[in-house]
Amino acid sequence: MTSRLEMDRTREFTRQDSGIGSMFSERESERYVQHSRHMNEMMVRVLKTIGYDVGFCRGAGQYLFDRAGVRYLDLLSGWGVFGIGRNHPKLRDTLTNVLAADFPNLVQMDVSPLAGILAETLLRYTPYLDKVLFTNSGAEAVEASIKLARKAIGRPGLVYCTHAFHGLSYGALSLNGDDNFRDGFGPMLPHCFEVPFNDLVALDEALATRQVAAFVVEPIQGKGVNIPDDNYLAGAQELCRKYGTLLIADEIQTGLGRTGRFLAVEHWGIEPDIVLLSKTLSGGHVPVAAVLARKWIFGKVFDRMDRAVVHGLTFAGNDLAMAAGLATLEVLETEQLIENAARLGARLLTALRGISSRYEMVREVRGKGLMIGIEFGRPRSLKLRASWSLLESVSTGLFCQLITIPLCKNHRILAQVAGHASHTVKLLPALVISEQDCEWIESSFDEVIADSHRVPGGVWSLGMTLARNARKTYDMTAVND
Ligand SMILES: Cc1ncc(COP(=O)(O)O)c(C=O)c1O
Repeated sequence: MTSRLEMDRTREFTRQDSGIGSMFSERESERYVQHSRHMNEMMVRVLKTIGYDVGFCRGAGQYLFDRAGVRYLDLLSGWGVFGIGRNHPKLRDTLTNVLAADFPNLVQMDVSPLAGILAETLLRYTPYLDKVLFTNSGAEAVEASIKLARKAIGRPGLVYCTHAFHGLSYGALSLNGDDNFRDGFGPMLPHCFEVPFNDLVALDEALATRQVAAFVVEPIQGKGVNIPDDNYLAGAQELCRKYGTLLIADEIQTGLGRTGRFLAVEHWGIEPDIVLLSKTLSGGHVPVAAVLARKWIFGKVFDRMDRAVVHGLTFAGNDLAMAAGLATLEVLETEQLIENAARLGARLLTALRGISSRYEMVREVRGKGLMIGIEFGRPRSLKLRASWSLLESVSTGLFCQLITIPLCKNHRILAQVAGHASHTVKLLPALVISEQDCEWIESSFDEVIADSHRVPGGVWSLGMTLARNARKTYDMTAVND
């Protein structure tokens, strides 16, 4: 699978650069030792257990290359940040130009031209919103939106969904629908209430208290790739309007074309009061996020000159981040990546559904655009059921590693489990993938799922080994998508 040319490119890069490139090539093999010693040792143990410790040395588009130059198809895309693919030349040129330009970056007592242009460009996609506040990360965008909502509405309450993921800082963590992330870190922010996703009756009940400033929701949940029922988001918008609650759409993962539309909410025709963007906006190089909001909300928060900096971040709106956002939006348009995500996402869904109908352990294939989940479930046949139960008794969701590990080892595909104790394997590739990549995905999943239905067999021997090590490591692969 690896061409000579690709191996030569990896070597060429490290030869040319006498600074950071040669430091990387000379010392990259120490990475696991370094991390075990100085950083998060558990992460290294996870990687070794699942065989992801191959030493990636280069990234290009939708691919990663290990130190032997072997090419992998990356369906993690850095938890979704590489929408336009890794190391896109347009992005690289733009960032290089910023560095060469001696712009007056982060003056602080001035406003940035690039930030103004990026805000203007983003708002063209959401004509019902008028204002933008930039932050450095998704979680910071969530934090900002919580503050905006509480101040604008003058109520303390926040409602979020079961299985929600909005980041891991305290405000965002207080809206997290999975106890696993919160255990041991309490107490959380007060006045945060969980409702089941897709349950309008529960939402009605929560909002009817008229104590709720905002309902924060991912249009498609990242954990589990949970799709809303057809009437859910429109119903939620109606309830929010009825009770004077803001609707905040967290499009940090789903936004900028991931689901085949610029925003996922466009599939259901709703117009939230606040939209949060990040991940793909960064081009994968410079962290950035944006809070898009209605004018009156901003007016309530930044309401006097002495409150002009009542919320802000030192690095937000820096030139590299703004330039990365502008270059990314241009690439999305010129390469028609949103259309590509819609077209190839539909192809993958159809193909994977066709394949999966032959296998009893596949419960559902769901998704939109290039955000796809394959959910596995308890088998009917006796032989399989015994093995499944054994694995699951050790650790719920462990079965999914029998899919992701061979996918990497035998097919050079990186994929993830869509959350703690989840039975869903998630595909989140760069939006630049091709028809050939789809063939690669389809044939590999077909083979790996088929193998997982053979007991006894190699995959189930792997399962037993995993079961022995499970408590130590496995669920780390579902950490932060
Ligand atoms: C929907 C959603 N919101 C918020 C976040 C948090 O973003 P960050 O990791 O940049 O803080 C994520 C990250 O995975 C996400 O998927």
